[in-house]
Amino acid sequence: MASSKTRQKVGVGLLGSGVVGEAIQDILFHEPRGAATEIELHKIYTRNPTGKKWHARRAALFATKAEEVIDDPRVEIVIESLGHQEPTELAAFRDYILRALEKGKSVVTSDKAVLARYGKEIWAAAEKSGRQVRFEACVGGGIPIIRSLSESFAVEEPEAVFGIVNGTCNYILSQMEKGGKTYGEALKEAQQRGYAETNPAADVDGSDAEAKLLLLSRVAFGLEIQPGAIWRKGIEQIHAVDFRYAARTGASTIKQLAVAKRNGASVEVFVSPVLLARDNLLADIDGATNAICFAGGRSGGARGGRDCDYVLVGPGAGGGPTAVAVLGDVYELARGGPNGFRGFPNLVAPGTLSVQPEDEIKGSFYIRFIVKDRAGIVGDIGQTFGRLHVNISEIWQLKHSEEERRSLTQSYSLKEKPSEILPFVITLENATVRQMREALDSIRDRDYILVEPVWFPIWGTK
Ligand SMILES: NC(=O)c1ccc[n+]([C@@H]2O[C@H](COP(=O)([O-])OP(=O)(O)OC[C@H]3O[C@@H](n4cnc5c(N)ncnc54)[C@H](OP(=O)(O)O)[C@@H]3O)[C@@H](O)[C@H]2O)c1
Repeated sequence: MASSKTRQKVGVGLLGSGVVGEAIQDILFHEPRGAATEIELHKIYTRNPTGKKWHARRAALFATKAEEVIDDPRVEIVIESLGHQEPTELAAFRDYILRALEKGKSVVTSDKAVLARYGKEIWAAAEKSGRQVRFEACVGGGIPIIRSLSESFAVEEPEAVFGIVNGTCNYILSQMEKGGKTYGEALKEAQQRGYAETNPAADVDGSDAEAKLLLLSRVAFGLEIQPGAIWRKGIEQIHAVDFRYAARTGASTIKQLAVAKRNGASVEVFVSPVLLARDNLLADIDGATNAICFAGGRSGGARGGRDCDYVLVGPGAGGGPTAVAVLGDVYELARGGPNGFRGFPNLVAPGTLSVQPEDEIKGSFYIRFIVKDRAGIVGDIGQTFGRLHVNISEIWQLKHSEEERRSLTQSYSLKEKPSEILPFVITLENATVRQMREALDSIRDRDYILVEPVWFPIWGTK
């Protein structure tokens, strides 16, 4: 490596001046140290420069057209840190990346949504132009998961990559469990703390976690999946009462997991809340922290009863950690000399494995009912599942205080009196998603069902 005296600074341009964009500017403008001194930011694109944190001191750097940044001859690497409200906005962001590549510039992005939707096109363009696209910040914020998978585990035989990849959902669920908050209160708090995405619906409906999972599945298993094509469940249906049942049904908690797990030639890929045993390593990952687990065939000899070999834990969101990951990629590119095309980093060649159809995903499940309290209901539900050859493993009916029943009737706007409703939970073993859906379809319309049953997998059991 050349000494810093002789090395030229690498010129970068920045698209976006939101949470991440401003954190990048903070690192590069406010007393830069170490590798940051070797990066020179020449231009910043935002539609609204006035009022941006660094605008008063660096007005000349701000541009209101992305092309002014991308086309600037001093810019060798384009950083894309734009955030969308609507999926239709992503096409413009893709075009900016394609334009940068056409102009012979490498790209570093924190925008997982644009890569999840347009990754194929973007890598084809990178190959054509002989330039790189790096995306460490797209998954797990500051956690170096992409580099770990593609470099440190390059010769591993991936068996599973899964974890907590959405800080907002994890914060909400932790606050509901430990802070006694309702779903609505916890969501509001997550937004106030700046954890939520530009469009917070993408956090709670699982689509943000899905975009990250698609990138992880592509790196680990060579799967090229389009957004919307995997089994995805949000956390909006989770109620405080589910945490009470979780604690009783096997000393568990509830976490949103993104999962890609190999079963022979296919891979189970899904995002869902799961019932997770309290002694699992992920059960203690609280708040906005992310944790990503990796299991590999070559490392797995000493795994014992655990579900993975490696766990990377760290801040999964926030300007600082994300900007560090973005600028780490920029530094890597600058240090690597000519920014030659390196392809998408796959551990398994694309086309080798396929995605398991969601209906065939098999496991144990938690189902919570709220019914009109009267005799014979549990028997009717048991018979319905029995007819579909699904074994009910356990039935749980806790004592519910008047206050808890009132909270349930209010949150579901039920017209019944609190004393007339009955929450209870069943757990199923060895069922497929198809069987679950068929069983619920056949009981959904029973007159005693007051609320759409809430169901999700029990993690770590088959
Ligand atoms: N925040 C995090 O913790 C985090 C972590 C990892 C990855 N990311 C990803 O990094 C990206 C930026 O996140 P952020 O938190 O910085 O978002 P943000 O604070 O909402 O900022 C978004 C930026 O994108 C710009 N923008 C939004 N819609 C646009 C449009 N239609 N056309 C042009 N510009 C548009 C905004 O424009 P104006 O400045 O013009 O208003 C703003 O500069 C996102 O893709 C996000 O998923 C964020």
